[in-house]
Amino acid sequence: MAKPYVLVYTTATVDGKIASVTGFSQLSCPHDLRRLHEARAWSDAVVVGANTVIVDDPLLTVRYVEGENPARVVVDGRLRIPEDSRILRDRSAETIIITSEAAPRSKAERIAGKGASVIVLPGGPRLAMAEVMGTLWELGYRKVLAEGGGDLLWGLFHSRLVDEVRVTWAPLVLGGRDAVTMVEGEGFKGRGDAVKLRLVEVRRCECGQEVHARYVVEK
Ligand SMILES: NC(=O)c1ccc[n+]([C@@H]2O[C@H](COP(=O)([O-])OP(=O)(O)OC[C@H]3O[C@@H](n4cnc5c(N)ncnc54)[C@H](OP(=O)(O)O)[C@@H]3O)[C@@H](O)[C@H]2O)c1
Repeated sequence: MAKPYVLVYTTATVDGKIASVTGFSQLSCPHDLRRLHEARAWSDAVVVGANTVIVDDPLLTVRYVEGENPARVVVDGRLRIPEDSRILRDRSAETIIITSEAAPRSKAERIAGKGASVIVLPGGPRLAMAEVMGTLWELGYRKVLAEGGGDLLWGLFHSRLVDEVRVTWAPLVLGGRDAVTMVEGEGFKGRGDAVKLRLVEVRRCECGQEVHARYVVEK
């Protein structure tokens, strides 16, 4: 199945957390936020998981650089996102919710009534990310930015759908067994089945404290 180019952009602590045990996730310096918004402007669709919308209530628009807003896509197999989420109230970008047949139909209709496109894929609640990416390809999206969280990224890495990874390492240690890491899920067993990355660029952030690294996925 054809799929878009998938770029993962994450800001993580040195211990690999993307949020704290209490859900704190503002890890970026202003320069990192600008880089993230550049990546949004590069993409034609930005994808997040349902929990990211529930916890952070992000807008997912381009604000810190010049550029067009990508479509914002939420993968939400059970349709748990709140109906007053900012992405459903804000009209400055297209909003697409990809859900499953396990989701309540009445909520899907109400969300569609707010102007979002609700795409119901067969089965569920867990969706095959290859099918999600194939759907985005069919809709004409060629460059996808995946921002997280850890559960969404596991689905993408596990199905070998990621082409490039950009990580900003914030000079923090958050710890906590229950704090979300960059990639969650069942995990790989070892080097044999792990996703292998090749480092192509590493630089110290303009703030002097964060490190930004760019990797391509070895196919
Ligand atoms: N630092 C950063 O760069 C960054 C970026 C983004 C997010 N975050 C943080 O990450 C945290 C959230 O991460 P998370 O791992 O808990 O959640 P997440 O990946 O945002 O969302 C997970 C939920 O989305 C739905 N979902 C994901 N993949 C699916 C699939 N293949 N099929 C169907 N539904 C799917 C599921 O909902 P159901 O369980 O209902 O099925 C799943 O529980 C937040 O605290 C946020 O602040 C940090």
